[in-house]
Amino acid sequence: MTSTDTRRIPASVTEAIEIRRSIRKFVQQPIPEADLRELVRLAGLAPTAFNVQPTRFIVITDPQMKAKLQEVSYNQAQVTSAPAVFVVYSDMEDVMTNAEETIHPGMGADQVATRAAGLRANFQNQDVAQRGQWALAQANITFGFLMLAATGLGYSSSPMLGFQPDKVRELLGLPEHVQFAGILPVGIAAEEGFPHHRHSVERITKFI
Ligand SMILES: Cc1cc2nc3c(=O)[nH]c(=O)nc-3n(C[C@H](O)[C@H](O)[C@H](O)COP(=O)(O)O)c2cc1C
Repeated sequence: MTSTDTRRIPASVTEAIEIRRSIRKFVQQPIPEADLRELVRLAGLAPTAFNVQPTRFIVITDPQMKAKLQEVSYNQAQVTSAPAVFVVYSDMEDVMTNAEETIHPGMGADQVATRAAGLRANFQNQDVAQRGQWALAQANITFGFLMLAATGLGYSSSPMLGFQPDKVRELLGLPEHVQFAGILPVGIAAEEGFPHHRHSVERITKFI
């Protein structure tokens, strides 16, 4: 941390959950690359079914690219305000092509081959959109981890689904089958955000 660093580092996961708020104005200060990489690593620790790990990230720090992304995000200003913007998406076709990578190498070559074939067999009767949707459920969990990882390192973020998916695919050269969990502008907060307004436990829960 530097003397100009106003990050607040939460002491616990519980505190991180409590203090996270959507922040749409950021301090104009770049995020060190080591922190950007650490955020991806931490988000990647999110669990996924069969450990398929279908989530992929694009981390945008280039001002021109951020400006173009903002244009296809209904001009939401948090995109260019943030020093870094994470685009988080699932790519289940990448998983299908490279299924072997998801099996622990310690299992040995035969097991890796058998299990990779099993994984492909599991999904080959689904069409690309169906298994893409399944993979998106995994990516959404990872997206949540990314938000909390950012909070954990003292950064703030602003989850977003307000963008045109086809245009974002085109802008970033992504294939049609990828599905977006969201985009996440990240940086040091330059505003407080709004206090939490949430349903009560009773409103959303049945204890049986
Ligand atoms: C998946 C998702 C998509 C969202 N999309 C947008 C968005 O496009 N623009 C925006 O200003 N806020 C967006 N939000 C922020 C929500 O409005 C915000 O999370 C909610 O009001 C609760 O406030 P809090 O995050 O400060 O607790 C999104 C949040 C989530 C989780």
